[in-house]
Amino acid sequence: MIIKGRTKVKEALSSSDYGKEFTLKGWVRTRRGSRNVAFIALNDGSTINSIQVVADVPVFGEELLKKITTGSCISVTGVLKESMGKGQNVEIVANKIEVYGTADPSAYPLQKKGHTLEFLREIAHLRPRTNTFGSILRIRHALAFAIHNYFNDKGFYYIHTPVITGADAEGAGEMFRVTTLDLSNPPMTNENKVDFSEDFFGKEANLTVSGQLEAELGALALSEVYTFGPTFRAENSNTPRHLAEFWMIEPEMAFYDIDDNMDLAEEFLKYLLVYILEHCREDLEFLNKMYDKELIERISHVVEKKFERITYTEAIDILSSSGRNFEFPTNWGADLQSEHERFLVEEHFKRPVTITDYPKTIKAFYMKQNDDNKTVRAMDVLFPKIGEIIGGSQREEIMERLVSRIEELGISKDDLWWYLDTRRFGTAPHSGFGLGFERLMLFVTGMSNIRDVIPFPRTPKNAEF
Ligand code: 4AD
Ligand code: MG
Repeated sequence: MIIKGRTKVKEALSSSDYGKEFTLKGWVRTRRGSRNVAFIALNDGSTINSIQVVADVPVFGEELLKKITTGSCISVTGVLKESMGKGQNVEIVANKIEVYGTADPSAYPLQKKGHTLEFLREIAHLRPRTNTFGSILRIRHALAFAIHNYFNDKGFYYIHTPVITGADAEGAGEMFRVTTLDLSNPPMTNENKVDFSEDFFGKEANLTVSGQLEAELGALALSEVYTFGPTFRAENSNTPRHLAEFWMIEPEMAFYDIDDNMDLAEEFLKYLLVYILEHCREDLEFLNKMYDKELIERISHVVEKKFERITYTEAIDILSSSGRNFEFPTNWGADLQSEHERFLVEEHFKRPVTITDYPKTIKAFYMKQNDDNKTVRAMDVLFPKIGEIIGGSQREEIMERLVSRIEELGISKDDLWWYLDTRRFGTAPHSGFGLGFERLMLFVTGMSNIRDVIPFPRTPKNAEF
């Protein structure tokens, strides 16, 4: 396929049309060679592999070749040949080279190989040009595509929940305020509070922490829906697993109970992992070699194993009788910390674990209450190396119970009138969950810091690019 007058490197590399002329465009990874011949490794992001361009020095002249340094952008027209050299099957023998953009070797930050991931974070605008981030971005794309594919095949509808929200009741985390008020001189009420009725939306507004509440409105009309969008949390948690802006996939299904919800989560995750194993092999092999020698094995292991399903109470029993000295307490009622989650997954069960029936005191207001009056029908899916990857629940569909929980927690009922209307008119049992896209990316790429699996990470004190 020729697009915009060029063939992609990926296609040229798998071609056996020897003798045929191709035009390739891309960025130079390296140039080496002798007085007579230059070897240029050219990459256009279509694959992790670069194609070798062979250029006759006397034909093109020193002057032109000098401009072709690491990071420069060129167009090459040449003939495809079987390669005699090691490491590639084909090469392009150049007839014509055009330089689109040079990259001064004394200034180009990626002049040398082997930069640390920390350094690359400081040049997030250029890191897509490295093998590592090329792989990560291609996998990220494939994963997003597979998510839509999965739900589309199952008849779920993609619904676009708002990014800006006037509802602050979800309780999933601290919110970022959205305002057009003049912060140095805001309008004040008689009680000397900021007067948000003067603000853009006529009320307080924030960036959403989750699309769930709106997705529920969709599910109670279209049966099975999902959202997939950015969500925002202003917690000051500077950990390798938290972002202030992250993407979440939130399916929401009418007529699903908690078991159906667990089944869907397991099937969905396995589908995505199989998709990546099948479609991103070269990138996975690269990451496996460079960063995590057990990556492909770990992904395959999760695909093969039935996820363990236990209740929170069972989890607490296992942790308390493990003989382990955990940093955080393991008494009934305490939230599970990542050390607990990883013990259960990596050491005790040696497979993903879905935990249900958490104490209501540590979970959100909308979760379906169990008859014991102590626990709710929550479910968290825990993964090796990651800990919590999915959080979800069956939802409380009975108006009186929902309202009593809202009141118990001191949440404003008035702000949720539209949500409560779904329980008032044609309520139905329903369930859903949220999958953290970057947590899944961590698992699939073997990276250990969440800042390395999103193009432009947003974390405390960091929004440069
Ligand atoms: O467990 P959470 O807070 O659940 C919800 O927001 C529900 N409304 C989801 C639902 O039922 N529709 O978040 C869901 C997932 C977590 O399991 C985790 O994978 C991810 O989102 N997550 C984060 N990922 C990156 N950075 C953060 N700060 C995250 N907080 C949660
Ligand atoms: Mg959670």
